[in-house]
Amino acid sequence: MISYISFLALFFSFYTITPTSSTSLQDDFINCLHKHTNVDFSLEQTFFTPAKNVSLFTEVLESTAQNLRFLARSMPKPVFIFNPTDESHVQASVICTKKLGVHLRVRSGGHDYEGLSYVSEIEKPFILMDLSKLRKINVNIKDNSAWVQAGATVGELYYRIAEKSKVHGFPAGLCTSLGIGGHITGGAYGSMMRKYGLGGDNVLDAKIFDANVRGGGGASFGIILAWKIKLVTVPETVTVFTVTKTLEQDVGNKILSKWQVVADKLVEELFIRVMFKVAANNGSKTVTMSYNALFLGNKGMLMKVMKKSFPKLGLTRKDCVEMSWIESIVYISGFPSQTPTNVLLQGKSPLPKINLKAKSDFVMNPIHHSGLMGMFKELLKEDSPSMIWSPYGGRMSEVPEYEIPFPHRKGVIFKILYAHNWIRDIYSYMMPYVSSNPRQSYVNYRDLDLGQNTKNTESDFRKAQVWGAKIKSKVDPENFFRHEQSIPRLPVQG
Ligand SMILES: Cc1cc2nc3c(=O)[nH]c(=O)nc-3n(C[C@H](O)[C@H](O)[C@H](O)COP(=O)(O)OP(=O)(O)OC[C@H]3O[C@@H](n4cnc5c(N)ncnc54)[C@H](O)[C@@H]3O)c2cc1C
Ligand SMILES: *[C@@H]1O[C@H](CO)[C@@H](O)[C@H](O)[C@H]1NC(C)=O
Ligand SMILES: *[C@@H]1O[C@H](CO)[C@@H](O)[C@H](O)[C@H]1NC(C)=O
Repeated sequence: MISYISFLALFFSFYTITPTSSTSLQDDFINCLHKHTNVDFSLEQTFFTPAKNVSLFTEVLESTAQNLRFLARSMPKPVFIFNPTDESHVQASVICTKKLGVHLRVRSGGHDYEGLSYVSEIEKPFILMDLSKLRKINVNIKDNSAWVQAGATVGELYYRIAEKSKVHGFPAGLCTSLGIGGHITGGAYGSMMRKYGLGGDNVLDAKIFDANVRGGGGASFGIILAWKIKLVTVPETVTVFTVTKTLEQDVGNKILSKWQVVADKLVEELFIRVMFKVAANNGSKTVTMSYNALFLGNKGMLMKVMKKSFPKLGLTRKDCVEMSWIESIVYISGFPSQTPTNVLLQGKSPLPKINLKAKSDFVMNPIHHSGLMGMFKELLKEDSPSMIWSPYGGRMSEVPEYEIPFPHRKGVIFKILYAHNWIRDIYSYMMPYVSSNPRQSYVNYRDLDLGQNTKNTESDFRKAQVWGAKIKSKVDPENFFRHEQSIPRLPVQG
């Protein structure tokens, strides 16, 4: 209470000239918080407003926000940012925002492709609850499990597991700055998904707070405080490689065509994704395809597998690097080679912040030569397109599609991620080659075009949501947890 009063005194001595309605909103919120939690919080360290210190406010707002598109000055800003330091503060915040009738956005790692965790273009005013101070990780090797708070990054989780055991790991995202809270909710795929499935497939338990009761899940239903996850086994030595071919080096798309036939049928220990870029080529442009791989085994075993299943790539022993699983995490996420693994504790992305826009597709049949040629033409039209193909199969096709709300399972050969602003053209071009009726997308690659541009996706979107809507109507009948693409309630009958 003391800190609250002294804060107010300070506040009014400096800002008596322009009292705004947002000022009273903050006061009301703080007042209400104190009533609903017994665990004190320091206003200095948990509460950020433009009026108090605009540069600090901006620093906190931008800290984990990954998408430059939504950091523009013109974007709506939260009235204030609250960083809970205790789980009871999260609960109190939900109660208080509900009471005050103000909209709440929740952020864990800030990687939402449409910035929905820190910007709302439809709700005014809104406040931001940033969970970055709730990032405890408790690894229990004996029990093969870990409790991870929502604000921790996957990189920190991997590091904490590896710190305790060389033969344990967890199969979630490749980008190490992803937040556990927002990431696992939508699936969470990574380089071990062919062996162990998604992060979401390896969840044992969760602590969730919803507006009325406990239960449910996801940003449409409530707030994840922590996940209990199941650890998986990794070998002490794994092997990685990246082999890059230009269009000219892959005459007739022989290698890429073969990849499409074998990628989902290789041994489950082997994950080979293809990363497409456009590069300068002696005064003109070419497409480069990097075959970027993790093998859960040593070099000798990998060479045998490749010789038998994918000799076309021409992998040599020199291309292969043996390392520990945690080192492979650092390698695959794109840090420069030799970066020490404790970089993961910084929770930062190796990639610079850019204007992100993403779309995804699921491919059920190999794309034939003429289709690929047209695709390369689309790629070459752009300056810096980026596209990644990630193989499915293995464990991914064994998990039934009704097991968790992630239906892309058996029959998927690979998933396409298109990133950056060029994507709308290639997305139309690819339509005949990817899943249809409905054209499926990965929910974690948030894309506000979906359900807006075409009639087809809109009705599919609705169809797919009927099941979710039933649960939504049950656990969050007032639609407290909503955003631009949250699951709607069932229409009222009658
Ligand atoms: C550079 C980059 C790389 C990526 N790589 C991968 C990858 O390898 N594998 C993969 O599967 N996906 C990947 N993604 C997609 C990623 O899984 C999603 O963007 C995911 O939602 C990020 O979670 P977050 O906590 O970082 O995001 P946030 O922006 O914090 O949250 C995302 C959404 O979840 C909600 N949310 C956040 N925290 C909670 C919570 N505690 N409870 C309830 N709702 C919450 C937010 O309100 C928002 O709607 C990548 C995205 C980016 C930008
Ligand atoms: C405002 O925050 C910045 C950090 O972003 C800090 O350096 C500065 O001292 C703060 N100013 C005041 C008046 O507290
Ligand atoms: C680039 O093009 C020139 C002229 O066509 C040719 O002489 C040269 O060998 C090419 N270089 C490479 C690296 O292909």
